[in-house]
Amino acid sequence: MTNTKKLTIIKPDDWHLHVRDNKFLPSVLADTTKRFSRAIMMPNLVDPVTTTDLAEEYRDRIIKALPSEYKLTFDPLMTLYLTNKTNASEIKKARDSGFVHAVKWYPAGATTNSSKGVSDIVACYDVLEAMAEEGMPLLVHGEVTDPSVDIFDREKVFIDQFLEGIIKNFPDLKVVFEHITTEDAVKLVETASPNVGATITAHHMLLNRNALFKGGIRPHHYCLPILKREKHREALINAATSGNKKFFLGTDSAPHTKSTKENACGCAGIYTAHGGIEFYAEIFEKAGALHRLEAFASFNGPDFYGLPRNRDKITLVKKPTTIVEEFTFGDEVCVPFRAGGELIWSID
Ligand code: NCD
Ligand code: ZN
Repeated sequence: MTNTKKLTIIKPDDWHLHVRDNKFLPSVLADTTKRFSRAIMMPNLVDPVTTTDLAEEYRDRIIKALPSEYKLTFDPLMTLYLTNKTNASEIKKARDSGFVHAVKWYPAGATTNSSKGVSDIVACYDVLEAMAEEGMPLLVHGEVTDPSVDIFDREKVFIDQFLEGIIKNFPDLKVVFEHITTEDAVKLVETASPNVGATITAHHMLLNRNALFKGGIRPHHYCLPILKREKHREALINAATSGNKKFFLGTDSAPHTKSTKENACGCAGIYTAHGGIEFYAEIFEKAGALHRLEAFASFNGPDFYGLPRNRDKITLVKKPTTIVEEFTFGDEVCVPFRAGGELIWSID
């Protein structure tokens, strides 16, 4: 008798998520709340969430847009967007709020809505000091922005030029290397102190960079950091399924309208929240590690952040369902990951 067709686990959390704002919120929150009890809400709105007050307003808008059955149970974990001008005193205020759980470092120009990000991390050293004192994690988009650096090397160069130094200079700072995509990042996290963890997306474990050009250019596979070559994809799967507590689930589900993706200058970001846990189940099963999915999805994240584990459960069944071609997103549409294809696992 095999026991792999059905799997009940503690309801997971998503430690890296974009839900956008206003009219776009309801169209994506239904997918997330069905699968996750909490999610780290990325602060890269068009007007970024740079203060605790702005985070509180954004949190209120998210809660208002939640499906009614999850209004009382889903917890949006808010983050602040670091800038050159962030005040160290903001960190204590954020910690005392109880709803801000991290600060996000976007190197200016690295990705969607990052132009107001950090151009000089040294100018933020007093903030990082305050974060280390308050136990406030720093979430890192780890790519250099120097246009002369090859786009496939930007994560590795970021490790060499910035991340190793930050980790050395701030040994007490909790650091999450977000959406890692290379074996270099896996190695860095494995060898660093327990204060350093990483999120891993499903799409970086399902696809390598060939998927960007399969039969023609594929804007719906374009995200940042960009998909990498096969050996890196394999390194990510090995890390996620290893049982190492430093690695945890972060979908980086990042919806954009169809018209801004299918465009001469298409936006970076892939929507995966409709299979937010199911895609991972597929990956873990294929790697023979389904028994390790629960820790990766539901334990390692809260343990790293110092938050309690969830108590609700969800059941996954290996029953294929068809993914829609597109769904309403605000007053436009969004094309989800693997549109028109199959989810191999689904939620019971
Ligand atoms: C994200 C977005 O669209 O906000 N895009 C992406 O390609 N992942 C930003 C980010 O996380 O880099
Ligand atoms: Zn992201």
